[in-house]
Amino acid sequence: MPGKVIIIDYGSQVTQLIARRVREAGVYSEIHSCVTTAEQVRAMRPDALILSGGPASVGEENAPALDPGLLLLGVPILGICYGMQLLAQELGGSLARSLTREYGPTELTLTAPCALWAGVQDASRVWMSHGDKVTTPPPGFAVTGRTPTLAVAAMADEERKIYGVQFHPEVHHSVEGERILHNFLFQVAGLAADWTMSSFVQRTVAEMARRIGKSHVVCALSGGIDSTVVAVLLHKAIGRNLHCIFVDNGLLRQNEAQDVASCLREYFDLNLTVVQAQQRFLSRLKGVEDPEKKRKIIGHTFIEIFEEEAKKLPQVDFLAQGTLYPDVIESVSHKGPSAVIKSHHNVGGLPQTMHLKLIEPLRELFKDEVRKVAAELGMPESIVWRQPFPGPGLAIRVLGEVTEDRLHILRAADSIVQQELRASGWYRKVWQGFAVLLPLRTVGVMGDGRTYEHVVALRVVDSVDAMTADWTRLPADLVARISGRIINEVQGVNRVVYDVSSKPPSTIEWE
Ligand code: XMP
Repeated sequence: MPGKVIIIDYGSQVTQLIARRVREAGVYSEIHSCVTTAEQVRAMRPDALILSGGPASVGEENAPALDPGLLLLGVPILGICYGMQLLAQELGGSLARSLTREYGPTELTLTAPCALWAGVQDASRVWMSHGDKVTTPPPGFAVTGRTPTLAVAAMADEERKIYGVQFHPEVHHSVEGERILHNFLFQVAGLAADWTMSSFVQRTVAEMARRIGKSHVVCALSGGIDSTVVAVLLHKAIGRNLHCIFVDNGLLRQNEAQDVASCLREYFDLNLTVVQAQQRFLSRLKGVEDPEKKRKIIGHTFIEIFEEEAKKLPQVDFLAQGTLYPDVIESVSHKGPSAVIKSHHNVGGLPQTMHLKLIEPLRELFKDEVRKVAAELGMPESIVWRQPFPGPGLAIRVLGEVTEDRLHILRAADSIVQQELRASGWYRKVWQGFAVLLPLRTVGVMGDGRTYEHVVALRVVDSVDAMTADWTRLPADLVARISGRIINEVQGVNRVVYDVSSKPPSTIEWE
């Protein structure tokens, strides 16, 4: 039986990063809300616990507390930031409140030997984000590290294998963070690095099969990697009791609808309904220019169709979604198991009136991890490496009114962008690359004549999770080739511009 680390989430923005680092180390981990009781945690049979950071102040009203029973489980514990402060308070140390937060890099100096410090430099850069601090560690604890502003930046009780670090070892900016976490997992907790994406697949499939039983599940497929991975995992778990719905809204890329449907049917034998709804979407978008209105119309129309289709199915109890960690706006921390789920999603908000229970097997993963799962599931490269595509599709890349003609121009330009990015090897290196049709005409000269035609913007960005992004420094000759082909091959376009804005303050999509 592989080892298991339970991460107790006190609401830090980076709790998921802790889980990710543990996974990267080859150890299975689960994140549980801080309202989970020690008895529930005991039943999960953890081999080690990590207490996350969090925004609250220990002891203030409604601040999440540490269940003292966790300290009696007899497994090694690492408290990070708020987690360390909780340990200090619970075990008899003292804390000082602060109204100002220390945020950013600082230097950690090791002050005493500690199992976490094996192979760690005596002084290294770490990343901090805290207000309160531990002033005296609890009895039995040694102070093991300090920073210029913190006398107790780390503490350890080697006897009981309880450790606290005020900094965040899970973030990349903490230079020795990975080694420190590895020391906790392997030296202190004695775990083995035996967990892989294939274990993720097995475990997820088994858990979903158990949870769903003989019930039916509906899943909205967008053709993107996230919902496709969810569908394939569910297909493994419950076979034909999974019902996938793919809505062709007429706002897809060139040949996308056909490619997606045939790929899903060929490779995975999914129970798939393709709904042809191009006209319904386009007629509702007629005359609409405002981006938010477009998004709402598309979202509502999608829900309407989804509900119509779901009614035709046998009794469905679950709705499966490809929500990833960066999609989860609200932390589940203080709310317990029935947390509210973010409505922004690749299918644009889903039917809440249907009272379906949610299945979101990817909600703890980052995009690159989903790609690994997809590869593990044997998905074709065309899906594994497909770039993200927004739920409202090309409607938010045709600025201004969405018409069949304008979509036609954008599709042709976009298809050239895709071809050239692929052919040059840049497709996989960038987060997204696409064309945008601007609501402008400019003057040009073609042959001997004046033209007055559309402008296409080329948007190519680097990002790790779409929260921030920077424009990709594509080689100039590649930009030139894309531009030349669009202007020559796409009728109605006489100018291409390259978007050199980062996010923030711009966004990746133009609308
Ligand atoms: P922005 O434009 O907000 O986009 O910087 C961030 C990422 O999200 C994608 N995006 C969407 N995805 N539904 C989606 O599923 C949407 O309504 C939506 N809007 C933007 C965008 O392509 C980028 O990857």
